[in-house]
Amino acid sequence: MGFEIGKEKKRVVVIGGGIAGSLICYTLQFHADVVLIDPKEYFEIPWASLRAMVEPSFAKRSVINHSEYLTNARVITSTAINITDGEVLTEDGQQISYDYLVVSTGHKDSFPKTRAERLRQYQQESERIESAHSILIVGGGPTGVELASEIAVDFPGKKVKLVHRGSRLLEFVGHKASKKALDWLTKMGVEVILDQSVDLSSAEDGIYQTSRGETIAADCHFVCIGSPIGSSWLKETFLKDNLDSQGKLVVDENLRVKGHNNIFVIGDITNIPEMKQGYLAQQHALVAAKNLKLLMDGGKESKMATYKPGVAMAIISLGRREAVAQFPCFTMIGCLPGSIKSKDLFVGKTRKQLGLKPGPA
Ligand SMILES: *[C@@H]1O[C@H](CO)[C@@H](O)[C@H](O)[C@H]1NC(C)=O
Ligand SMILES: *[C@@H]1O[C@H](CO)[C@@H](O)[C@H](O)[C@H]1NC(C)=O
Repeated sequence: MGFEIGKEKKRVVVIGGGIAGSLICYTLQFHADVVLIDPKEYFEIPWASLRAMVEPSFAKRSVINHSEYLTNARVITSTAINITDGEVLTEDGQQISYDYLVVSTGHKDSFPKTRAERLRQYQQESERIESAHSILIVGGGPTGVELASEIAVDFPGKKVKLVHRGSRLLEFVGHKASKKALDWLTKMGVEVILDQSVDLSSAEDGIYQTSRGETIAADCHFVCIGSPIGSSWLKETFLKDNLDSQGKLVVDENLRVKGHNNIFVIGDITNIPEMKQGYLAQQHALVAAKNLKLLMDGGKESKMATYKPGVAMAIISLGRREAVAQFPCFTMIGCLPGSIKSKDLFVGKTRKQLGLKPGPA
């Protein structure tokens, strides 16, 4: 920073290194003194994780050390536990001051700390799938449907059962897309059980009880239920009054917290009324980065960019070639939507956005 005589860079602290947090750090690292606080040392492309469970080497490209793309930022491997007007407090006892703060703690997941441990986890999960004859998947949202599809395509001999508590799969998209996904899975030999849940605590010797008293035998199970919003820690902070009833942070059209003109919020933790999708979280990051650059350069607040909620669009991949897609006016299934997402799952594209080569590290 020695080149810029007389002009101190502003400190931007980003809490949470998911899809939104990693991109905003990357975008701002040469414009500000960027500090990323994340409990893990890496960023992971979330929608690639189901492929990595059947093909663990896939994770070598989709799990990326923060240090690889953050060549000019500081990474603190810890969890933020409190924030005040000008400081963030971390679990390991550090107090980090900020000029601007970005909150992007998305969902509360528990991932291992290092990339090597995460890759090992994928290896173990794929071995679990390979050695099982029958597999139970709990949860019929996008994660459960994509995992069932990956297994059905890569291991056609395995018995896969998917139990979902709701009356249809993929409730976040329309009925037509749900039906198409259900028909596709059924055709591929996956048994889908709707309107039931599984009591995992009482499972014994591979026998599981459903809420209607049915029994399911399976060699292993995977829980694919969405994790809660990562905001419980904010209830103890001065942002507690900015949380809505679902625990999301209420943002204005410039992606700032009301009443705090140096705090931005991006990603799934925002209360923006739209589907929670990774590509939208990336858009949040780009809008907030633009606004931060403007403010740091002394621009007018009135010139800030606004974020408009994204249209209802989603692609749920069904194995390596096919997908079901919902666009604003229609849904479709098969190889055409599959050709957009399913082969590479946007991994090369996402790596490129972080300035990395599409290939493995
Ligand atoms: C990622 O970081 C770890 C340190 O935790 C290091 O040992 C490893 O070599 C790095 N891997 C890559 C691909 O950069
Ligand atoms: C967080 O900081 C606030 C001061 O801003 C303080 O009142 C509160 O007790 C702290 N909470 C925790 C859990 O340390």
